[in-house]
Amino acid sequence: MVLEHEVEVGLNELDRRLEKVRDVFEEMNILITGGCGFIGSWMCDLLIRWGSNILCIDNLSTGKIDYIDHLMKTGRFKLINKPVEKVKEVEFRPDVVIHMAARASPEDYMMHPVETILANTLGTYNMLEIARKHDAIFLFTSTSEVYGDPEDEYIPTPEKYWGRVNPIGPRSCYDESKRLSEAMCMAYHREYSLDVRITRIFNSYGPRLRWDGAYARVIPRFIYQALMGQPITVHGDGSQTRSFTYIVDTIEAHILVMTDNRARGEVFNIGNNREISILELARIIKELTKSSSEIVFKPQRPDDPKRRCPDISKIVNMLGWKPRTELREGLMLTISWIKSHLTASH
Ligand SMILES: NC(=O)c1ccc[n+]([C@@H]2O[C@H](COP(=O)([O-])OP(=O)(O)OC[C@H]3O[C@@H](n4cnc5c(N)ncnc54)[C@H](O)[C@@H]3O)[C@@H](O)[C@H]2O)c1
Repeated sequence: MVLEHEVEVGLNELDRRLEKVRDVFEEMNILITGGCGFIGSWMCDLLIRWGSNILCIDNLSTGKIDYIDHLMKTGRFKLINKPVEKVKEVEFRPDVVIHMAARASPEDYMMHPVETILANTLGTYNMLEIARKHDAIFLFTSTSEVYGDPEDEYIPTPEKYWGRVNPIGPRSCYDESKRLSEAMCMAYHREYSLDVRITRIFNSYGPRLRWDGAYARVIPRFIYQALMGQPITVHGDGSQTRSFTYIVDTIEAHILVMTDNRARGEVFNIGNNREISILELARIIKELTKSSSEIVFKPQRPDDPKRRCPDISKIVNMLGWKPRTELREGLMLTISWIKSHLTASH
């Protein structure tokens, strides 16, 4: 696949926003797990463009070879197609290890709970050991789900909130294993002085987020349904809230976390502090796609958090990042990307 127009636009924007730090990545060796997925493939595109050498570990369980095959031709990108929990050693000397491999879509991880736990336990352990051997920076992409279903007084949710998670519920394979990954990162930081940095991502969206089947997360699912004239399916009554960050903003935040040494041993919420209900989101997508689909209600998902909104003051104050892409603007780019793929596949 050639680089998609909407991704090219985003990468150009990142070039501009991150002009001061991009040189740091020239000739840098980066080991990335989950690099064939949504966030990972954007990261790989950007870093290859900036002159890094990448070794990617991905078992293509939810990612797509299409997203990275143009990178193979550069001679600076290699893929190990294996589960991260089975990779103990690599022939590569990483300066940075970015551990992103995980099944991240609730419907999908609930169908693969054991594999989900393994990627976030053994997988994290394997990658931490490689980072320790090479004294590499270790960046771990955690999730807002470590907070579980916060009480209203913790909305917006700050990093210091410890979470309200059901340890044996159907989502626990993801929430609890991400929490253990965070604990492991901090243990390596305390015991071995490893330079670890943790991000807690709150619903990122954009081109390359899958719209199909169990992999689909809410935005691409609604867009696909709206474009196909199918009912737009809202779980519960739609009053549950989320906050959405466009992929370009998400990537910018991760680059800042990687390049600013004040981020060493720290955890950052990465998200948008604009909270929106799922029903309102469905209405906006219906309007932007000019769809005649009706919005229908399905049973609520088990343990689905009622509200999710980050307190982002830590990253704003420490690293000077804030989300800049308006929801409607990001949605239009995502709609355009999904449209062009639907056209190409027919
Ligand atoms: N996108 C979001 O809104 C969001 C929110 C919170 C956290 N995150 C985290 O960000 C990271 C990337 O998420 P994403 O949205 O790009 O998801 P994604 O599903 O698009 O990408 C995940 C990648 O990891 C790979 N993978 C999964 N399990 C693996 C395993 N055991 N071994 C090797 N590779 C494996 C998949 O094939 C895929 O390429 C994940 O760690 C996820 O938990 C994402």
